[in-house]
Amino acid sequence: MRRKMLLAMAAATLAGNVLAAAPQKGDPAKGKQIVDTVCAACHGVDGNSVAAANPSLAGQSQHYLYSQLKAFKSGERKNPTMFGMTAALSDDDMRNVAAYFSQQKPKEREASDKTQMALGAKIYRVGNPATHVPACMSCHGPSGKGLPDMYPRLGSQHAAYVAKQLADFKAGADRKNPTMADIASRMTDAEMKAVAEYISGLR
Ligand code: HEC
Ligand code: HEC
Repeated sequence: MRRKMLLAMAAATLAGNVLAAAPQKGDPAKGKQIVDTVCAACHGVDGNSVAAANPSLAGQSQHYLYSQLKAFKSGERKNPTMFGMTAALSDDDMRNVAAYFSQQKPKEREASDKTQMALGAKIYRVGNPATHVPACMSCHGPSGKGLPDMYPRLGSQHAAYVAKQLADFKAGADRKNPTMADIASRMTDAEMKAVAEYISGLR
């Protein structure tokens, strides 16, 4: 009995080590099969979505995409559509689609509301010292490319999607992140709208 238990424990440790050593990268070819059949309708075959409510995912960091899929699935990030979408995905599926989207080329956009550019650029590049809003570019990068594994890319994202996320971070119910909640809580609606427009044309 004792010997059996020791053997089982040794096997478990071995399996644990193998798992830890195995690469955590997804398989983009397997991811593409899921994207083509399920996700493309909203996010585009190549991760460049058309409708402004559906975020573009092309070129987004693999780590970030995977972390968001997990958050939708667990209900930590609340969205009825994406909760349904992730219910059927395994952990490997999520890694695979994340790998696929991260390798796609983001389509460049133009900001549609140019009247917002002056305020938007100021918030993005300088922040608002009076209310302690930090410059977005200090984490998301001067051209919105982000920093893989740490900060998501924002450049050329739909303005309406960006504005909604900022409002969600501020409200703190559907989307929780301490860093972004603190930043969004210091922003006015006008600042959120303006910086979202600026980001949509950023490349
Ligand atoms: C019916 C439309 C629809 C389908 C199909 C769909 N999504 Fe989404 N997805 C959305 C919407 C809308 C959001 C934004 C949710 C929000 O506002 O928080 C989103 C958000 C996301 C995000 C978060 C992006 C970010 O920048 O944080 C990821 C990742 C994602 N979807 C992946 C997928 C994958 C993978 C599939 C296929 C398995 C899929 N989606 C299918 C509509 C859809
Ligand atoms: C200190 C670093 C930091 C700064 C400064 C910062 N962000 Fe972020 N931002 C993050 C992190 C980390 C995340 C990922 C949050 C998560 O995992 O949910 C994020 C996520 C976001 C998202 C969600 C992206 C998506 O695809 O859904 C938006 C939009 C965003 N930030 C906008 C901004 C804006 C606008 C500013 C400037 C006013 C800003 N951020 C400043 C760290 C930062």
